[in-house]
Amino acid sequence: MPATDAVNPPPLASLRGVWKSFDGRPVLQGLDLEIPTGGTLVVMGPSGCGKSVMLKHLVGLLRPDQGEVRFHGERIDRLDERRLVPIRRRIGFLFQQAALFDSLTVRENVAFPLRETGHAGPDLEDRVRATLDRVGLADTLDRMPAELSGGMRKRVGLARAIVLEPELVLYDEPTTGLDPIRANVINSLIVRLQRELRITSVVVTHDLDSAFQVADRMVLLHRGRVRLEGTPDEIRHSADPVVRTFLEGREPHGHDPDLDDSDPDTLDAPANSASPAASPSPAANPSGHDRP
Ligand SMILES: Nc1ncnc2c1ncn2[C@@H]1O[C@H](COP(=O)(O)OP(=O)(O)OP(=O)(O)O)[C@@H](O)[C@H]1O
Ligand SMILES: [Mg+2]
Repeated sequence: MPATDAVNPPPLASLRGVWKSFDGRPVLQGLDLEIPTGGTLVVMGPSGCGKSVMLKHLVGLLRPDQGEVRFHGERIDRLDERRLVPIRRRIGFLFQQAALFDSLTVRENVAFPLRETGHAGPDLEDRVRATLDRVGLADTLDRMPAELSGGMRKRVGLARAIVLEPELVLYDEPTTGLDPIRANVINSLIVRLQRELRITSVVVTHDLDSAFQVADRMVLLHRGRVRLEGTPDEIRHSADPVVRTFLEGREPHGHDPDLDDSDPDTLDAPANSASPAASPSPAANPSGHDRP
C-alpha cells in the first residue's frame, strides 16, 4: 500500500465532532469538516444554520463546547489569545459585513494588519498599493469607506484579508447584498486570488450562483452537521431531499422551504454522501465589527 499521506495529504484545517450551543440551543451538533489544502471549499446552508459560527471556530473567535479544531494538525481550540495571534496572521477573514474601520481611509484599513505586524515605511506603502491593485481599487487609497459602493467595500475588506499573504482565506457571504454584476466581480476575484496566491479558500454563502462559480468542492450544512460534501457536479446531481430542497428552493412534502432546523421531519435520513465531510480552518479577524 502506498503511504496514505501521499494520496491524501492532511487537511489544512479541520473541525472534529464540534458541538456549540447558545443559550441551550444547539447550533453545531457534532460537526465534522475538513478543509483540504488548496482550492476553494464552498459551505452552503440556510440562514441561521451555523455557517458563520463554524467560520469563527476556525480562527478561535468561538470555542467549541465539545470537539476539536485543528490548523496544520495543531489543536487550536484551547490556545489562549496570545498563542492564537500567529495563527490568525496566517488566515484572512472577510467578514459578513465588510467590517471596515469607518474612520480610516482605504489605505489605512488595508495597512492595519501590516502595522500590527511591524511593517512600516515604503514596504508598507508598496504592499498596500499592490494589494489594492489586485482587487482593482488602486485609485481609492485616500477615500473613506462611506464614499464607496457595497461592492467596493467588500473588495477593500478582501484586500485587508489578503494583505498579509495568508495561507487560508475565509469569506463569509462575500456576495450577499450585491447586484449580479458586482457579485461576479467578487467571484472572479476569489478564483483569481486563489490561483495567483495559491491560497486555500473557504467561501460561506447561500448565493448558489456564486457557489457554483467558485467551488472546487462543496458542503451543505444542515442541523449543525455536514449533510453532503462533494464536487459541484456531485452536489448538483444529488438526490438527497435536503440538498434538492436547498438547491431548488422548493418546499418538500409540505415542509419548511428554508430547511428550518427547528422543523423535525423526514429529512433526518442519512445523506447520500458523495464523500466524507470536509473540514474548515481558522481565520484572522475576530468580532466582525470595526476593530480599532
Ligand atoms: N454569539 C452568539 N450568541 C448567541 N447566539 C448566537 C451567537 N452567534 C450565533 N448565534 C446563533 O447561532 C445560530 C447560527 O448563527 P450563524 O450566524 O452561524 O448563522 P448563519 O448560518 O451564518 O446564517 P446567515 O446565513 O443568516 O448568515 C443563529 O441562531 C444565531 O442567532
Ligand atoms: Mg452568517
